[in-house]
Amino acid sequence: MRYIEFGSSPLRVSVIGAGSMRIAGMDEQTADTFMKAALDSGINFFDHADIYGGGKSEEVLGRVLAADPGLRDRIFIQSKCGIRQGFFDFSESYILKSVDGILSRLQTDHIDSLLLHRPDALMEPEEVASAFEKLHQAGKVLNFGVSNMNPMQMELLKTKVTYPLVCNQVQMSIAHTPMLDSGFNVNMGIDAGINRDGSVLEYCRIKDMVIQTWSPLQVGYFTGTFLNNENYGELNRALRALAEKYGVGTDTIAYAWLLRYPGRMQVITGTTSPDHLRSAAAAGDITLSREEWYELYRAAGNRLP
Ligand SMILES: NC(=O)c1ccc[n+]([C@@H]2O[C@H](COP(=O)([O-])OP(=O)(O)OC[C@H]3O[C@@H](n4cnc5c(N)ncnc54)[C@H](OP(=O)(O)O)[C@@H]3O)[C@@H](O)[C@H]2O)c1
Repeated sequence: MRYIEFGSSPLRVSVIGAGSMRIAGMDEQTADTFMKAALDSGINFFDHADIYGGGKSEEVLGRVLAADPGLRDRIFIQSKCGIRQGFFDFSESYILKSVDGILSRLQTDHIDSLLLHRPDALMEPEEVASAFEKLHQAGKVLNFGVSNMNPMQMELLKTKVTYPLVCNQVQMSIAHTPMLDSGFNVNMGIDAGINRDGSVLEYCRIKDMVIQTWSPLQVGYFTGTFLNNENYGELNRALRALAEKYGVGTDTIAYAWLLRYPGRMQVITGTTSPDHLRSAAAAGDITLSREEWYELYRAAGNRLP
């Protein structure tokens, strides 16, 4: 496992993080086993959001923490707020209320990172700044970041927010690469050249932000994984060949592909299986070559100019 610095945290965080969007239904025994698998494989980063399972995902971790008080200081907990039923809300009052709910469900007095989940067109940077100030002063949130934001949205926030935006969590997998495609196809009159995201990867690198990738195995928006997917035959053949070469699973290679991007990368896996979690963790020990990285990009159906 590799570890990176994350804002002001004294804990260096694992480049593989355990996502909690799908853990809401876990009973205590299953959650214990899952947690043990994460910690034993070197994963110390846990990604949550107030909306996952309507708050039930945070409650699952909260029960684990309550049963093992020494655990809190050994792990990094991130959560997110701002998505409501049918709209987005970055108002000061809603951010403050959300964090109190998050802390209560997690049974902790602070979270290590809070992300604004999805851009709110009605956001007022002053309100976000004031909320962050109050949360930080109260010791409730140690670091702040964003998710699914383009560079100008982050710049808008930064007109008033004085705390560093430490990370941006964005959707990226070998089968979901619009942020890369546009960079390869500058000047080309084809759809792949459309820059929808404002060169967000390059912006995050310039600002030394952690780039967290969500849905690392998914095709599109939650339509299933590309692993053993008949629509991705060439990609799966290429993954299998590399899996054999490195003596790991094809899933491990898919995570390693994301980690090979030269930013401060972190991959948030959504697996609920201890075995799959161990496969994800193994990616922290693999560095694909430049040739292998490009081969996988092309095998996913992408064409280079
Ligand atoms: N910021 C945002 O807007 C945003 C949006 C969505 C998600 N997220 C975060 O990102 C995390 C990951 O998202 P995700 O769950 O969509 O990502 P994912 O890891 O791409 O997908 C997880 C799914 O893939 C399956 N899977 C994992 N390993 C597998 C393997 N080796 N073989 C076959 N299937 C496998 C899992 O099943 P098993 O459980 O059986 O392994 C699970 O159904 C979430 O938990 C959440 O923390 C953030």
